[in-house]
Amino acid sequence: MTDLLPGAGAAAAIPPVAASEGLRLGWIRRLWPVLGPQRWIVIGSFAVGLVALSISVAVPTIVGLTIDRTIASTASPLEPFLVALVVLALARGVLSVVYRYGLYRTAYRVEVDVRGLLFAHLLEQTFSFYDRIQTGQLISRAQSDVRSVQLYLAVAPLILTAVLSFVVAIVVMLATSIPLTLAAVVALPGVYAVGVALRNRLFPLSWIIQGRQAEVTGVVEESIAGVRVVQAFGAESRQVEAMANATRRLRWANVDQGTIRARLAPLLENLPRVGSVLVLLLGGWLVIEGRLEIGAIVAFNSYIVLLQIPFRFLGFFLILSQRARASAERIFEVLDAAPEISDPPVPVTDRERAGRIELRNVRFGYGDGDDLLRGVDLTIEPGESVAIVGTSGSGKSTLARLLCRYYDPRDGEILLDGVDLRDLLVGDVRASVVVVPDEPFLFSASLLDNLTFGRPDLIGAPLGEQVRNAAAAADATGFIEASDDGYDTVVGERGATLSGGQRQRLALARALLVEPEVLVLDDALSAIDVHVEARVHESLDSLRAGRTTVFIAHRLSTITLAKRVVLLDDGVVVETGTHARLLETSARYREVLATTLTTDEDIPT
Ligand SMILES: Nc1ncnc2c1ncn2[C@@H]1O[C@H](COP(=O)(O)OP(=O)(O)O)[C@@H](O)[C@H]1O
Ligand SMILES: [Mg+2]
Repeated sequence: MTDLLPGAGAAAAIPPVAASEGLRLGWIRRLWPVLGPQRWIVIGSFAVGLVALSISVAVPTIVGLTIDRTIASTASPLEPFLVALVVLALARGVLSVVYRYGLYRTAYRVEVDVRGLLFAHLLEQTFSFYDRIQTGQLISRAQSDVRSVQLYLAVAPLILTAVLSFVVAIVVMLATSIPLTLAAVVALPGVYAVGVALRNRLFPLSWIIQGRQAEVTGVVEESIAGVRVVQAFGAESRQVEAMANATRRLRWANVDQGTIRARLAPLLENLPRVGSVLVLLLGGWLVIEGRLEIGAIVAFNSYIVLLQIPFRFLGFFLILSQRARASAERIFEVLDAAPEISDPPVPVTDRERAGRIELRNVRFGYGDGDDLLRGVDLTIEPGESVAIVGTSGSGKSTLARLLCRYYDPRDGEILLDGVDLRDLLVGDVRASVVVVPDEPFLFSASLLDNLTFGRPDLIGAPLGEQVRNAAAAADATGFIEASDDGYDTVVGERGATLSGGQRQRLALARALLVEPEVLVLDDALSAIDVHVEARVHESLDSLRAGRTTVFIAHRLSTITLAKRVVLLDDGVVVETGTHARLLETSARYREVLATTLTTDEDIPT
């Protein structure tokens, strides 16, 4: 079975990568869906490269011939040879440009496509995936791994042509003079050995350097993202020091790398000259003996330059290919991670949209942790408004996340209008049950764009009645209209230019615009004044038109708005009833309220 990776949006044009074939295939072959469409460009530029290669190999022989025919013996005129050499040089130049252009173009195309695939795949991953993985690591993976694959794809064909030119040149040289060929190649094993020594020393270092670079980036990212905390605690100099330490470690590694290079690179560069000396020595003797023409010496000297290229770069290339393979494997690891939550093969699409929620014996815990919810049974009727009360850490937010299927329960089931959430399309669940968290995320875009984020049909449309109504219901109209550009005001990163209460009201309006059947407010109005919150709840009530509302709150005034209160304690629902009744009958309820209520109101006694 091939598990196809669906692309989203712009990435949809990219052919899917067979995700379940695992790493049995070579990584290049696994890249085939991305590489395939580029094959004609690859083949075409490779053909061009081969022609350029033939010219490179032919030129030294022609130079040798020129010397023998026009200078050593003056048997022929010089001009035709010169013209031929100039034409060949020009042709070679143009072909090399075309060849490299084709290769780089392909490599960058692959880079873009793989990045698109990765991004689409990351956006599909479940909350639990992001609970496990560090975001910084993910971003550096996406960047550097894709980059190293790209580099390999661009360089590998160049190395291949260099090896091919080596083979052809050797054949041409052997045909000219076997002893001189031996003299020319005698230093090449040395070049290779030095190249390998260089690689063996640089390879581990390059990993260390990469790690330390990530460390530096990490310090910068965290300090800038957390700049408000840094300044609040006067920690600027500490962060600067952390940065200095990180950059110092990076510098050491870089200097080490430089030292190794400085020691070995001159050797690598000069070893081939040993061959030149031997060619001059042996060639000179052969010419004097009359067994060789003088042009051959000149030609061989050029061939030595050609021959050493693959030997010099083999070491570099081997590092590159190892790294590209490791990178590709990490990329495929991410691509192979099937989202834990996905659409069922046969989704139920014809449920009545009433907004009835039923939890049956729901058990859930994060990761490998213990059960946090230990058999929650709860039914919420369409149009009902229910407040969930529990101590901090009792799992209220967790319950909210289960309702819109951010996570699946370990055991038991959650039904929406009588259908298990797992039998519905994920998009259907998320459009029907919307959770508004207490610390909402806003994008650095206009207020209007943030509001319409859940309504693709409204994105880009002029401000309409629907948006105004949602904003009004969330009591956001006042501050939106007071902003410099009204609805077009651009908010700072993550909404930094807004107050907590303003962010919460925008998030509520954003959720209302989706018109879900079930609205879950997870402490969603906690940063808003008491009287404003009461007003918002009133307008939610009047707007509701049968919408089920579940809310988690820490204010008595809010809790009393609910028709029914559910007390979550020790992972189960222990009490349910009106606030007044629970207050009267449940000692535990009074206890929990006393510990959780925010104190801008009277605590009940
Ligand atoms: N993503 C997560 N991964 C692991 N543990 C979590 C995660 N989110 C919350 N928890 C833990 O689950 C428990 C319940 O959290 P939560 O549902 O947020 O409680 P509440 O909203 O009732 O205060 C807490 O102990 C918290 O540390
Ligand atoms: Mg919570």
